[in-house]
Amino acid sequence: MSDSARMLSGVIQSLGRAKVLDGTAKTVSGWVAAVTRPTWIKNALSGSWLGHQLHPMLTDLPIGAWGAAVALDLTGGEESADAARRLVGLGILASAPTALSGASDWSSTRGADKRVGLVHALMNAVASVLQAGSWIARRSGHRRTGIALSALGLGLTLSSAYLGGHLSFVRGIGVNRTAFQSQARSWTDVAADGEILDGTLVRVIVNDVPVMLTRQDGRLHALSAVCTHAGGPLDQGTLDPDGCITCPWHGSRFRLEDGAVERGPASVPQPLWEINVEDERILLRAADSN
Ligand code: FES
Repeated sequence: MSDSARMLSGVIQSLGRAKVLDGTAKTVSGWVAAVTRPTWIKNALSGSWLGHQLHPMLTDLPIGAWGAAVALDLTGGEESADAARRLVGLGILASAPTALSGASDWSSTRGADKRVGLVHALMNAVASVLQAGSWIARRSGHRRTGIALSALGLGLTLSSAYLGGHLSFVRGIGVNRTAFQSQARSWTDVAADGEILDGTLVRVIVNDVPVMLTRQDGRLHALSAVCTHAGGPLDQGTLDPDGCITCPWHGSRFRLEDGAVERGPASVPQPLWEINVEDERILLRAADSN
């Protein structure tokens, strides 16, 4: 590990150990949970309609707009002043949905990840305030002040982006937890047909992959047992009468029929397994659609 990577890793570890942040994290998390309780809001912010998380995609908008504004400030001269001010304003507008989607994702994290995520959010909030100050300064004719505030804000945003990258790529927040599971395409005998009673949830293993097997209204269903959101055990979840399974960790709901997400925070459908019953034995294989 290089000296710089070691130094940054040390900073992040210190943030992750800062239990002084827990009170604030708990309060803010409660607010986020209240705001995102309606299913349509949770799904919209989680990216359940998109097939992967929304937040990483939205971050490009404010960072792009504010980065372009600074580039114009540095290279465009006086005639680019209006364009740069508009870019700062666009970035501020884009930062609102970006922050909301990030807050929704963050509310499902725990421990050190939650503390680092809180610092990430606070840095972004301060960066947005600096950009708002820049827009006001530019608007009132104080272009140099506006340029300085924009540069400061962008620097803070990029530092915060490092924390976001750490949470995604080092800690795996937001990564589909079934992405690296094997896709067994040959039929595997997993249980006797009579063992799976209506309304029960059973965990079976196919080629090292845990699969949740259940029967509802006489019909067998099989989905990967590891929740795509953060790895919760679906076989310990709740079978809902409307043909869905609810994850016990953060309440994502998946349709038994095809694994589709009915409620976030999950954004990736649950992998589906095909079922064949032969000689009163249940055989499974990964569905083509996975
Ligand atoms: S692990 Fe988060 S909803 Fe399943």
